[in-house]
Amino acid sequence: MPLPKSDYLSDTWKDGLFTNKVVFCTGGAGTICSAQVRALVHLGADAFIVGRNVEKTEKVAKDIATVRPGARVIGLGAVDVRSFDSLNNAVVRCVKELGAIDYVIAGAAGNFLASINQLSVNAFKSVMEIDVLGSYNTLKATIPHLVESAAKHRVDSDTLKPSPAGTGGRIIFVSATLHYTGTPFQGHVAVAKAGIDALSNTVALEFGPLGVTSNVIAPGPIASTEGLDRLLPTEQKEKVIKSQPLGRLGSVRDIADATVYLFADTGSYVSGQILVVDGASWRISSSAGSANYPDFLISGDTFQSVKGKKAKL
Ligand code: HXC
Repeated sequence: MPLPKSDYLSDTWKDGLFTNKVVFCTGGAGTICSAQVRALVHLGADAFIVGRNVEKTEKVAKDIATVRPGARVIGLGAVDVRSFDSLNNAVVRCVKELGAIDYVIAGAAGNFLASINQLSVNAFKSVMEIDVLGSYNTLKATIPHLVESAAKHRVDSDTLKPSPAGTGGRIIFVSATLHYTGTPFQGHVAVAKAGIDALSNTVALEFGPLGVTSNVIAPGPIASTEGLDRLLPTEQKEKVIKSQPLGRLGSVRDIADATVYLFADTGSYVSGQILVVDGASWRISSSAGSANYPDFLISGDTFQSVKGKKAKL
């Protein structure tokens, strides 16, 4: 269903900011990534989103396309970021149909609550493969196009003036804040997200000389997202909201606005950074995933009231 603009973009940005630009996004049908893409499309971009679920990915793409007349938004399902070939085929199709890739959002992720005791070797591997290998595959498949776009959109190094053609050659990895302090029941994800942060920093150093910027957005607890559904037992929701420094959860609009900032001219000299969008949440404690710590561990119980159940219990 088409969303009101105020749900996914603030009024700060001018229409047409991303005209003639193309964004490629993994996990693009998810709640956070679809808002990021929706905001960019609203501001003029065309988009190619990929995901594993065919029906969901195509449906979300169609819905995003309604935000701007003439918007081209392609949703390609059955793409698993763990397979380089699967991803690379999607990238080839994006460039063939939309002409380029100027921006990339590496957003595909896997998550569930589990202690190390409950986590099988395969469960750990699955999250590492979706998050870390998936982000690497996304980078490998798209970087030639980002380098090409960066070359067309460089800030003049003498005058420091932006390119009249706008910006391009930018990548954002979606990470988390779990590993800043350590979060029980999120060991698998914390390890994966730390790897993603390290990857982004290396990209900034190795591809900066070619004009590419690489940054991480680390969302905190964002309302109405699959991530929160998976991490926060229902009975703890109210308590967690009350404990937030800003007294509220984040919105997907908060993440979309941060994305626009990094991709627009405002982000031209920002690279190798982690932009934490969490209302200072991580500085207080690790609230998401801290279900009844440590009693839960001692009891030997398993999680029941969150999404993302183990396949074979
Ligand atoms: C323990 C679990 C489990 C659970 C799955 N497994 N769920 N173990 N507790 N709740 C185990 C399975 O038993 C299996 O191990 C292994 O993990 C792989 O599971 P499959 O279902 O076969 O794998 P797959 O279909 O590839 O699914 C991957 C997944 C799944 C990560 C397990 O949840 C998924 O597809 N998620 C994608 C969507 C998602 O998670 N979105 C949330 C992103 S939120 P065995 O040993 O039995 O074979 C996010 C927020 C970050 O990233 C942090 C914010 C604060």
